[in-house]
Amino acid sequence: MANNDAVLSQFTPTVYDDAPKAEGKKLRVGIIGTGWIAESHIQSYKSQPDVEVVAMADLIPGKAEKFAERFGVEGVHFYPDHASMLDNEELDAVSVCTYNRTHAVCTIDALKHGVPVLLEKPMCVTIEEAVEIRKAEAESGKIVSVGFQPRFDDNMKMIKKIVQSGTLGDIYYIQTGGGRRRGIPGSTFIEDKTAGLGALGDIGCYSLDMVLNAIGYPKPLTVSGYTSDFFGKSTKYYPQFADRFNVDDFAAAFIRLEGGIILDFRIAWAMHPDTPGDTIIFGKDGALRIPSTDCWNGTVGGPMKLYHDVCGQQTETVIPIIEARGKMGLFDQKIRSFLDAVKTGGEAPVPTSQIIYNQAIIDGIAKSARAGKEIEIVIPE
Ligand SMILES: NC(=O)c1ccc[n+]([C@@H]2O[C@H](COP(=O)([O-])OP(=O)(O)OC[C@H]3O[C@@H](n4cnc5c(N)ncnc54)[C@H](O)[C@@H]3O)[C@@H](O)[C@H]2O)c1
Repeated sequence: MANNDAVLSQFTPTVYDDAPKAEGKKLRVGIIGTGWIAESHIQSYKSQPDVEVVAMADLIPGKAEKFAERFGVEGVHFYPDHASMLDNEELDAVSVCTYNRTHAVCTIDALKHGVPVLLEKPMCVTIEEAVEIRKAEAESGKIVSVGFQPRFDDNMKMIKKIVQSGTLGDIYYIQTGGGRRRGIPGSTFIEDKTAGLGALGDIGCYSLDMVLNAIGYPKPLTVSGYTSDFFGKSTKYYPQFADRFNVDDFAAAFIRLEGGIILDFRIAWAMHPDTPGDTIIFGKDGALRIPSTDCWNGTVGGPMKLYHDVCGQQTETVIPIIEARGKMGLFDQKIRSFLDAVKTGGEAPVPTSQIIYNQAIIDGIAKSARAGKEIEIVIPE
């Protein structure tokens, strides 16, 4: 490729193939946990011509049956938990759509049965669980892909292209995070026994992935973290569940990454200001500002701005938002890319080899906040 073309192609949006690959036998898929996010999984699986959802499991009696009926899925076998489903079915893949506290056990048990896993985000709750998932994955030879659908957004891909193009030069500091003025989800998200983590796990994992994926997921080394729960526990702001709330609703941290990069992170489910700040990637040759959204859910909030010098002149270049094209939404792309990897024996589209560092940071923030001091991030062998 001529040098010029190579430069220009760095900024050409990726064109994705809209047509699901339907050749070969149908994949027999099971869904573990039939709550809110499972709705997106079933709708997407139903639109894939090479998938039949044959089994569903949920701990709440009758929930999976009602779920199947609501989405018009017939011929499904129902189970009272993930273990009995895995023992009784021959499956090609499962979606783990349970709350965070049971991510690890469901994923590890599926891998022990030789079944690849599409695992909802965050990967799990602790770094120890993440390591166990990685071990089970290696032993089984089957993949785990973590459910970060924002990865498939062309604007997210553009962030990575800009960083990887070298336009910003060496990266030395990143401020990232996101927030909502009032956006605590409720349900099973707000109790330690089900969620294990609050805003930190729910939406913190997205903002970490946005920047860590762009810079190639360097290893995290140390973290000084802080968490609080003033809003969720307050009857003034959340009378409907203040007595149940026992996870974080705000987290902030200062993280050192391998390569001398500093990550300055903050995430909020609830706060008084409109934003805890845009994401800004500082490089020696330029900087990239990625606007936050009003209600943070892991997406790019508006046109990005590139700050650089042109012939000695301080210049700002606007990177326009790339509108979604094609029929396949981000969630469908997340499901489809997983299915294709299962069919071809390819790599997981969002691999645990990367996301273990995302989990190590989340776990480190929680541990450092409890200890009240900076800690070293140790990833058990
Ligand atoms: N990717 C996204 O955009 C997105 C959005 C929302 C939630 N999520 C993630 O999805 C996960 C689930 O969230 P939700 O809102 O659907 O929760 P939910 O509470 O509505 O549903 C979880 C279900 O899992 C079931 N369950 C738990 N352990 C089980 C087990 N061992 N076997 C069978 N069933 C089991 C529960 O009974 C419950 O019905 C969370 O980890 C959350 O972070 C992702």
